[in-house]
Amino acid sequence: MTKILLVGGAGYVGSVLAEELLERGYAVRILDRLYYGEDGLRSIRDRVDLIQSDMRNINPSALEEVDAVINVGGLSNDPTAEYNPRANYDMNTTAAHKLADLCMAAGVRRYIYASSASIYDTGVGNDEKDVLQDEETPVAPKAAYSSSKREAEKALISLARPDFCPVILRKGTIYGFSPRMRYDLVVNTFVKDALSRGVIMLHYGGEMWRPLVDVRDAARAYLACLQADEDKVRGQIFNVCYHNMRISELALRVREALRGVGVNTEIQVDYGYRGVRSYRISGAKINRALGFRPIISIEESVQDMAEKIRQYNYTDFDHPKYYNIRWMRLLEEADRIIKVTGSVFGVGSR
Ligand SMILES: NC(=O)c1ccc[n+]([C@@H]2O[C@H](COP(=O)([O-])OP(=O)(O)OC[C@H]3O[C@@H](n4cnc5c(N)ncnc54)[C@H](O)[C@@H]3O)[C@@H](O)[C@H]2O)c1
Repeated sequence: MTKILLVGGAGYVGSVLAEELLERGYAVRILDRLYYGEDGLRSIRDRVDLIQSDMRNINPSALEEVDAVINVGGLSNDPTAEYNPRANYDMNTTAAHKLADLCMAAGVRRYIYASSASIYDTGVGNDEKDVLQDEETPVAPKAAYSSSKREAEKALISLARPDFCPVILRKGTIYGFSPRMRYDLVVNTFVKDALSRGVIMLHYGGEMWRPLVDVRDAARAYLACLQADEDKVRGQIFNVCYHNMRISELALRVREALRGVGVNTEIQVDYGYRGVRSYRISGAKINRALGFRPIISIEESVQDMAEKIRQYNYTDFDHPKYYNIRWMRLLEEADRIIKVTGSVFGVGSR
């Protein structure tokens, strides 16, 4: 049985991907620090091998009997990367690179790395730069998150050789239900706001572009790269995107989809500038090379998400665990306090 080491496998994408891998008959070993707990793995916990560990310090034994590695671990958005740029770089760039070295030493040929389409960000208000970008477009990201992804891409691609096959996926912003839910991603935020407050808030008038893709389609993109001939993917970067949409159009679509499941919501507009990101990308290359195309629409995903949020009780919408930056800040604060008090209800002084 083909065994996959899935770094970050307890995360939003990782937990959906782990399930998909199991369904397709792969054996799955997850290495994750479990920052967001194990909830994402609840339904598959007895079918995966779990190593609770930091990706910056992977023991080579984690690669024993492993046939391929998928790395969806690390800090996964701008706010957390900016909160601790050093940790971000160590996880998203240095650890990603070291993992490639470990793969080569262990004879693991294929390594798929989660990059991000935010590498293409051009910001709003610059019409000359507002064009469809593809994998050939020169990029020079400046933000902590996107530049750490770009640095990792360059390091990994430079390692491509006949017996080592690194592959990069630049995913657009993901939407959809995952057992490790995130409400800090734009579509999911809209659904959460609609369900909890009956209001969708459009920042900056919703003028910005965003490439979007459903989490199950994202998982299938990893599968496609895993199963493709090495020659088709070795050293390649692929964008993964269902559609590019202005956020204003997205809000209208989400409102309409929710109306279809009995949720009425209002759209409010705020024109304040908040350093918004804007970019649109072509997903044609992965289709040409591998015949892969995302198929799950915003509407289908939103309706499915609304249903599952209720069915599985993900309705504690304000819980910080659904918002990566709030959760990281809270964990740090708790860590500082516990260093002084000792274990919360433990007896006696430390
Ligand atoms: N969610 C998106 O919209 C999106 C879009 C483009 C790219 N990506 C990339 O895809 C990957 C997965 O994103 P996600 O939304 O699932 O993020 P997530 O934050 O839900 O998951 C990340 C996982 O990595 C684990 N992790 C973090 N630091 C770790 C460390 N030092 N050692 C071990 N484990 C660690 C966390 O515990 C978590 O389970 C990330 O690399 C992200 O940058 C995500």
